[in-house]
Amino acid sequence: MNSTSNINELRTSLELLKKAGKTIGLVPTMGNLHDGHINLVKESLKKNDYTVVSIFVNPLQFNPNEDLETYPRTIEEDKEKLLACGCDFLFIPTTQEFYPETLYPHTQVKVPGLSDILCGLERPGHFEGVCTVVTKLLNIVHPDNAYFGLKDYQQYLIVKKMTKDLMIDTRIVGLEIVRDSDGLALSSRNGFLSDHELQKARQIYHSLQKTAKRIYLSEAKFQDLEKLAHQELLAAGLTPEYFVIRNSESLKSATPEDPNLIILVAATLGSVRLIDNIRISLADHEAIE
Ligand code: PAF
Repeated sequence: MNSTSNINELRTSLELLKKAGKTIGLVPTMGNLHDGHINLVKESLKKNDYTVVSIFVNPLQFNPNEDLETYPRTIEEDKEKLLACGCDFLFIPTTQEFYPETLYPHTQVKVPGLSDILCGLERPGHFEGVCTVVTKLLNIVHPDNAYFGLKDYQQYLIVKKMTKDLMIDTRIVGLEIVRDSDGLALSSRNGFLSDHELQKARQIYHSLQKTAKRIYLSEAKFQDLEKLAHQELLAAGLTPEYFVIRNSESLKSATPEDPNLIILVAATLGSVRLIDNIRISLADHEAIE
């Protein structure tokens, strides 16, 4: 595996490969790799001639009160995992190289509307940080395909819209959420939870599943189902930020006529913020996940 923090070095290697007609897959990450990330890497390896994984804890997407300093950094373990699955390139840019000090503030990329709801409400500026860093990565790597986990579903939709609107020639691929044996969605932030908190966190997936079932059975209005799940999360010791049923393409409030829905949740346990979702299709009456 070729590992570099140098933008020009990576560009030169990739340009040679592209001239030789090879396809490139990109998996952008912030490191602390778990099976969810490795799943993205494996898919990229399968579908492209070469795969680049980037590891960069992007300061621009953290608010001042968030966990930038304590975000888990496990570069040696990450390298071992990437070597083991046959990754071709590891790109670890430095903050100085990505955000050099300049006279005026750094340019930011914003996808209005979609970035201002749900997670964007609680984390103002977060998605501008994501879009800015993803644009940089796409401009450096010029991948044919870029892979994102669907746990961050809003992020996936925003990045997809951004590349379409900006006519960036990369296909954005979203892959299913990887869960532990109890259904908890894998996340780098799970490592901050005690055993007791992990137990509570499992309620998130239970509530998503129960709500999906209630929707299929048309048990109550969507708003009432959202309220019920909110109460369940509170009773389990979580602090829900949102629990909503939305149209899975627009993320607007869902109506019973919408064939494709998504149930999205964000909740905190102490200082740890967790998100998850389930997509359901009322057309064929089957959970997509
Ligand atoms: O999902 C993440 O890990 C990050 O938001 C990303 C896409 C790597 C951008 O920093």
